[in-house]
Amino acid sequence: MAPLRTGAAPAGVRIEAPDPESAPVPRHVAIIMDGNGRWAQARHLPRVAGHRAGAQAVRRTIEAAIASGVGWLTLYAFSSENWARPEDEISDLTGLLRHYLRHEVAELHRERVRLRAIGDRARFGADIARELADAEALTAGNTRLHLTMALSYGGRSEIVAAARAVAQAAASGTLAPSDLTEDAFSGFLFTAGMPDPDLVIRTSGERRVSNFLLWQAAYAEYLFPEVLWPDFNAAHFDSALADYARRNRRYGARPE
Ligand code: IPE
Ligand code: IPE
Ligand code: MG
Repeated sequence: MAPLRTGAAPAGVRIEAPDPESAPVPRHVAIIMDGNGRWAQARHLPRVAGHRAGAQAVRRTIEAAIASGVGWLTLYAFSSENWARPEDEISDLTGLLRHYLRHEVAELHRERVRLRAIGDRARFGADIARELADAEALTAGNTRLHLTMALSYGGRSEIVAAARAVAQAAASGTLAPSDLTEDAFSGFLFTAGMPDPDLVIRTSGERRVSNFLLWQAAYAEYLFPEVLWPDFNAAHFDSALADYARRNRRYGARPE
């Protein structure tokens, strides 16, 4: 059995993979990028250093996704609950987001990446909301990788907002309650038109969903590698794809 891609195997991670010719590649990988604070703490650095190193891991992961043929990558960068963090950390994270948008979008566009954001972007302020809208407009025609950043995102509030929109459509007579199917409901979510995630990875060893893609990940495969997000690299990504390729997705049915 050949590894999906050669490269240094991370310590303790097996990269043995099924035959790459036949191994199914997940269409959509979603990642809860966790462990920045612990990474910094272990180095006696301020938390912001962990978030900065986390931004480098984002770059590596986008490259790894493109190289492996994953078409959709969704990254949980800031949850609706993260507003509860101290003001200085929020200001560091907002600053990093602004810096990322100003300095990385042109490169994403060159790489033919389409960028989208899901979540309550208005909470970051008008300038970031506008930069996100500009980046989405600039990259709207790209199809090599669909990159979605979950920013001030919460799964429950997304579902409630969708339910509210459904109720409004029903009240105004544009949607008959009997026409509300699962597919129709999906069309009211931020992720309308996107495929559901096949694989959700949460780094840092925490085994929680933390309000991420609650509706969309109903049948995703989950993986909880111990690696802290700032250390995440192409070998970890490939190892996750290899693990996914060994899963047996049954969707509740009985295999023959
Ligand atoms: C993930 O790292 C980044 C965000 C949630 C914004 P954390 O900041 O949660 O890092 P830990 O979990 O404290 O190590
Ligand atoms: C989840 O991580 C959110 C992101 C990675 C953006 P947190 O570190 O905020 O989640 P909890 O507090 O461990 O649930
Ligand atoms: Mg965390």
